[in-house]
Amino acid sequence: MKKDKMKPNKAEIIEVIQETGSNLNVKTYRVKFIDEDVRNSFSFRPGQFMMVTVFGKGEAPFGFASSPTQEYVELSIKETGRVTSAMHNLAEGDIIGIRGPYGNGFPVERAEGKNLVFIGGGIGIAPLRSLINYVLDESKRDQFGNVQMLHAFRSPEDALFKYDHAMWENSPDTVVKYTIDNPCDDWEHCVGFPHTLLASELDCELPDALFFTCGPPIMIKFITEELKKMGIEKKNIITTLEMRMSCGFGKCGRCNIGHYYVCKDGPVFTFEQLNEMPSEY
Ligand SMILES: Cc1cc2nc3c(=O)[nH]c(=O)nc-3n(C[C@H](O)[C@H](O)[C@H](O)COP(=O)(O)OP(=O)(O)OC[C@H]3O[C@@H](n4cnc5c(N)ncnc54)[C@H](O)[C@@H]3O)c2cc1C
Ligand code: FES
Repeated sequence: MKKDKMKPNKAEIIEVIQETGSNLNVKTYRVKFIDEDVRNSFSFRPGQFMMVTVFGKGEAPFGFASSPTQEYVELSIKETGRVTSAMHNLAEGDIIGIRGPYGNGFPVERAEGKNLVFIGGGIGIAPLRSLINYVLDESKRDQFGNVQMLHAFRSPEDALFKYDHAMWENSPDTVVKYTIDNPCDDWEHCVGFPHTLLASELDCELPDALFFTCGPPIMIKFITEELKKMGIEKKNIITTLEMRMSCGFGKCGRCNIGHYYVCKDGPVFTFEQLNEMPSEY
């Protein structure tokens, strides 16, 4: 990456995937760095994030939605406001700016040899997908134990990464469950909020399990309460925070909670760490 940490590297959008067909408007962008040196040297960890510039519109942080084992970078963006709407207006061939990667990322080394449980909701599945596809990559799969996933969407139209589902379901020692909020025709999976399904759909008592959860704050709250009731230790429940950010690397102070800078010390934290923080997040 370039030495000037604030200077974005140009990247071309090579594919745009419209993920959802409902009010939740999410698109996934596959991008390729223009500069060959950057392209060849760029690396990141699942759970890290990048600062993305839509030229003339602004900059915003987004997690990596792809695995570092893939030769391209993908980001999935929910249309929310100014920068995300501008991003949604871009098409294949358009150029964006990317700086990073920033942040700590998921504790991949700590996850090695362990059973892993992923509980994602809505756009929160995007950062989890980076780690899921890393763990399920053929070159890495034998470094991890059983994998279980519960993905929650409001409705079938909101399901993200449908093109990954068969690969996830066919991976060895992997259980994949999907749930929607309310029953509807032609839906063959679970129905109900994910915390109500943990006991019946997943085996949360597998020894040595690490739990990764990401989604709307209300979902995370209920999931952690349920996991705690099951006796799961807070240090084994891991999430990633979304704060407003500016520099992305611990200089501007925009993202601090107590003495933590979410951009530098996070965005990935265990619930043991979050419990030590002031209740601003
Ligand atoms: C580390 C990190 C990773 C992220 N990864 C993703 C991702 O993979 N995909 C994705 O779609 N989004 C992600 N986000 C959130 C994304 O950065 C915001 O949605 C984006 O900055 C909104 O910009 P905007 O200009 O479109 O919205 P604005 O016009 O600035 O705001 C629109 C609305 O969104 C709220 N908002 C804006 N930024 C945030 C924020 N950071 N947290 C909570 N609410 C906010 C505002 O209060 C306002 O209500 C991530 C954020 C962080 C910090
Ligand atoms: S975004 Fe600047 S210190 Fe975190």
